[in-house]
Order: sequence, then C-alpha cells, then structure tokens
Amino acid sequence: MPDMDTIVSLCKRRGFVFQGSEIYGGIGGFWDYGPLGVELKNNIKRAWWKAMVQDRDDIVGVDTAVIMNPNVWRASGHVDTFSDPLVECKNCHHRFRADQIKGEACPNCGNSNTLTEPRQFNLLFKTHVGPVEDDAAVAYLRPETAQGIFVNFLNVQQSMRKKVPFGIAQIGRAFRNEIITGNFIFRDREFEQMEVEFFVKPGTEDTWHDHWRDERLAWWKRTFHLSDEHIRVKVIRKDRTYIEGPDPDDVDMEKPPHYSKGNYDLEYKFPMGWSEIEGIASRTDYDLGAHQKLSGKSLEYFDDETKEKYIPYVVEPSMGVDRAVLVALFESYQEEMVRGEKRVVLRFPKPLAPIKVAVLPLARNRPEIVAKAEEIAAMLRPHMLTVYDDSASIGRLYRRQDEIGTLYCVTVDHQSVLVDDEKYDGKVTIRDRDSMEQIRVPIGQVKNVLSDKLME
Ligand code: GAP
Repeated sequence: MPDMDTIVSLCKRRGFVFQGSEIYGGIGGFWDYGPLGVELKNNIKRAWWKAMVQDRDDIVGVDTAVIMNPNVWRASGHVDTFSDPLVECKNCHHRFRADQIKGEACPNCGNSNTLTEPRQFNLLFKTHVGPVEDDAAVAYLRPETAQGIFVNFLNVQQSMRKKVPFGIAQIGRAFRNEIITGNFIFRDREFEQMEVEFFVKPGTEDTWHDHWRDERLAWWKRTFHLSDEHIRVKVIRKDRTYIEGPDPDDVDMEKPPHYSKGNYDLEYKFPMGWSEIEGIASRTDYDLGAHQKLSGKSLEYFDDETKEKYIPYVVEPSMGVDRAVLVALFESYQEEMVRGEKRVVLRFPKPLAPIKVAVLPLARNRPEIVAKAEEIAAMLRPHMLTVYDDSASIGRLYRRQDEIGTLYCVTVDHQSVLVDDEKYDGKVTIRDRDSMEQIRVPIGQVKNVLSDKLME
C-alpha cells in the first residue's frame, strides 16, 4: 500500500483533490475536488444510492436543508453534548484533542506539564440567519445529515405510504469544527455523508443492527474490491469494545455516541492505522422521542394491521464520502515494473473509474489521424466518459491514463485511416488498463466492444 504523501501528491498532480483556497495558504480541514475527484466521488455516491435506494423497495431518498431550526440541535443533544475534550499547551499554544494525547508532554514542543486541563469544545459551526447578528438569530451548519431525516419522518412515511420497517436515505454536506483535522481528506471540517435512518419496530432493532452490519460490509467489499484483510468491524457496546475481523488485539475501550445504544464501526486499514469509514448505530427512539418532546408534535407511527401506535426505533448506517474516496485511492494504487520502467496504475473497479476511455492519436502531426481520433471520441462521449488527448507521445499518454485509472485507451494509427498505406485495415487498437493487452477492432465496432467490456 502507498503512503499518504504518495496519494496526496498524485491527487494534486492529476486533478483529484486540491488544498482549499490554496493561493491564500489554504484553510485547515477544507478541500476542493478537481475534475477527476468529482467524477470519482459522484461514482461512489451513485453506487451507494443505487444499492441503498433504487435497488430496494424499502428505502426512499430525501435532500434536506443544511441549516435547520436551532431547536433541532437542542433536541438532538448536539448543542449540549457534541464536543471533544480540548487541551492547550501553555508554552507553544498548540491545541490538541485530549483523548489523542499519550503521556504528559506536549506533542508539538515536547515540554512536560504545560498542557491545560481538558475543557469540552463544541464542534458545531455557528452562523446567523437574517440581518441581525444576535443570540436569537444563531443557527448551526448541520454536523450530520440524519436530523433532516428525523424531522421529516412522518412527512415521508405518510406521503409515500411506507410501512415500518422502512428507511430514508440522504447524501449531503456536513460540517464540524474539528479541533484537529488531518490525514488529507480523512478528517475535514466540511465533508459529505451518506446516511440511512432505518425505522424498525422496537424489540427488532438488534436483528436489524446485525443485518445492516452484514449488508454494509458486503457493499464495501463489493464496491471497492476490498480484501478481507483491509476491512473489519469494531463493536462498541456500553460495557466493552472489541474487533470482529483482522488485528483483533489492538483496541482501546470506547463509548458509543450520545444517541446510540451500540455501534458497529467499519474500519479500513489505512497507512496511519485502522480508522473508521462507516458507523452503524443503534439509535433507538432517541431522536424521534427527543423531537416529539421538544416540538410538542406527535411523531408516533400507527400500524394499520396491528392497530398499535409507537415511536419506531432506528438503525443508522452512516458513511463519509471523502473517506470512501480515500479508500478507493489506497485500494486501487499499484506500482509495477514493466520493461524496466515503473508503471503507476490506479486499478479502480469499473463503475468507479473517473474516465472510462481515452482516445489517443498515434501521430499528432497527421491531420487524418487526429481527425479520426476526435471523431471516435465524439462518437463515444454520449455513451461513456471519454477524453481525447494528443499532448504527448503515446508512451507518456498511456502512463498518464494508467495513473488516473482510465479503463481503456483507443489508439488511432496510420493503419486505421490512411487508405494508401499498404497495411491499412480500418481498425483501431483497444488497450486494457490492467492486462495492457491490445486488440485490433474495426472502427464501426468500437462502441459496442467497449460497452460490452464495461458491462463485464
Ligand atoms: N449520523 C451519525 C454520524 O454522523 P459519525 O460516526 O459521527 O456518525 C459518520 O459520522 C461518518 O461520517 C463517519 O464514519 C465518517 O466516515 C464520516 N465523518 C465523520 N466525521 C468526519 C470528518 N470530520 N471528516 C470526514 N468524514 C467524517
């Protein structure tokens, strides 16, 4: 597996991810996705939405506002309890999360006994709604997309005539004023989440919790082609924490989040160590109950068949899109020696690859070859994400496409177009990213051959 610096540098060089506001020196915890990054991210979101919403009849989607009535965050507990313990070094004034410091010394300047006592630091980003910046106008940027789902529970259930068990899904931005950001796009202050709140009958939540652990684990393995050694489950119960999967011995005791009676955290083996990529929380009736209490509006579900009324329990699979982008990059990156030269290749699974096809002219000084290559690119573009590139020699073009994970290169050469050429065959070369195998295909069949290959 590559180290973090290798991935960060590739991301910048090839247009996946740039530092936010880079020309002003950046701003910690904010990143900008470039042309390839946005394609990769969209492909991940599409894969999730298809698996979690479109391929099922028990989950529907929403897209709710980032800014909500501040009472939402009072009821949810975020105003009072969404905080991390902050310590500051009295010598160098660096700040740290107390739970991430080992020993007495300041991790920055090394001085002992200069760290302050921990104080709770609330992670909510504040803003003001309207023209007056007083306390009554304070609002928060959402720290999770989940609450937009909870407050719409009955709207969705009744308008879509859904019966428990069913779920509501959402993809959207979340904001947290993290004390420490880092590891590239792993821990950000602005990031994207994909969450499902799955509403179940009280008493059935443990079965559903296990069900979603298994479903989500299978989705990660399938979508990113993860090996069993790179993903594991951390079980966080109120009384103990343990691992299901690889490296079971290296885990400290943790508490579930304030809203959860227990979590399954899915962890990926990053170069900086095992780290969470998705949390599957058993949220009970914590949120719906709290909103019912503070709003004074009933959020009970009426079961037509049994004539029972109850507040459903919730199981919540919640993942971060930015962390998934990082997983895709680490899992796909490979270096290999080909004819004495290093080849860097991102072996993205087909649906995730940002670019499916690159069309390359073998000789950019031959107008007939260039024109045919442009024509083929234009023909393919409506069907699969296609780029045209004639900015370097064919060897360099192949290397560049390998490094960004392009699945197929179509090369147009003299034989393809020059009818006077004794070797003229009216065919082009299709090169496979992974095997580097090349086949000759008649120009009229290129689209069908590539479409079939993309479906394989
Ligand atoms: N609604 C539940 C919830 O928000 P969480 O464990 O705090 O739970 C869910 O967040 C997922 O969101 C995490 O597993 C992670 O993938 C992503 N996430 C959380 N904080 C993040 C941050 N600061 N930067 C990037 N991703 C983050």
